[in-house]
Amino acid sequence: MKNSYSNIFTFNKKILNKTIKTLKKGSVAGLPTETVYGLGGNAYSDKAVKKIFRLKGRPKINPLIIHYHNIKDVEKDVKINKHVKKLYKHFCPGPITFVLKRKNSSKISKLACANLKTIAIRFPKNKIVRSILKKIKFPLAMPSANKSTNVSPVNSLDVFEEFNKKLKIIVDGGKCKIGIESTVLDLTSNPKILRPGVIDEKKIERTLKIKFNKNYRKRKILSPGMMAKHYSPGIPILINQKKHDGTSAFIYIGNKYKYKKNFFSLNKKNNLNLAASNLYKVLRTIKKKGYKKIQIHKIPHYGAGIAINDRIKRASKF
Ligand code: TXA
Ligand code: MG
Repeated sequence: MKNSYSNIFTFNKKILNKTIKTLKKGSVAGLPTETVYGLGGNAYSDKAVKKIFRLKGRPKINPLIIHYHNIKDVEKDVKINKHVKKLYKHFCPGPITFVLKRKNSSKISKLACANLKTIAIRFPKNKIVRSILKKIKFPLAMPSANKSTNVSPVNSLDVFEEFNKKLKIIVDGGKCKIGIESTVLDLTSNPKILRPGVIDEKKIERTLKIKFNKNYRKRKILSPGMMAKHYSPGIPILINQKKHDGTSAFIYIGNKYKYKKNFFSLNKKNNLNLAASNLYKVLRTIKKKGYKKIQIHKIPHYGAGIAINDRIKRASKF
């Protein structure tokens, strides 16, 4: 350990073994992924899953994503179809989650899946979490490591801010590269995006050589338990803003207000992927600086911009 936080650990072999021991006992750990930090626990263990829900203050109807090392590991839990095979080849390990039909033989905790007949599976790319998944004989139920409705963590210190000493282990893996949660894709019937991410609809359509049925967008709550209010830094957020009110923090993309006080650019070069990766960091920074309100300029609605707009819209339901 090379920091003053007694439960944040730099990753090495000793910490790998310590984390595995903790997970085997049914306890939970703060772990880095390429998207956001997760709160991981044994997905076969009701005890571990209950701990995750309790720590997060998460409604029981909101199911967890189950994380695996390899596609072979999921065969006993879900019904694999041709879409998932193609997408796995193309994007995994990586920031995409597939919702599939549960197999009767599956040992995944029913509590983790909110008693649904489906399971959301993901193969994270981050090397640290992959090395853990490789060594354990169970998959990890792992929501983002924040209290329910808060902003997701993209640094180990953010995880500490959320849970303090309530976690025995937070493994430090630096800043999450993607910085925004995985795309959640329902593959139980016609493919539907339940939560947008950096792997967008166009990329999925191109890979599957299909067109999405656009009517699904009209549904109000897309994922079970995915309430409107979410990703909130705890202060009011106004979206699609044109003019700065003089005192609020103003978030935008580009370098137009480079030297102006109260202005925060998500990315100076208009790169939407990098803008998405900075969103949560900027929201946390603004909150810490003591601002009382956030205004956000209109964000382009394509590519990773769709994911940014999804998160800020929810964050604005304060
Ligand atoms: O990038 C990520 O996906 C991160 C990292 C840690 O892997 N995890 C994450 O988990 O964002 P969480 O719990 O914050 O969000 C999980 C989302 C929720 O919107 C939930 O409703 C949806 O996945 N979900 C989980 N299981 C589902 C299922 N069986 N059917 C439909 N949606 C499901
Ligand atoms: Mg979350």
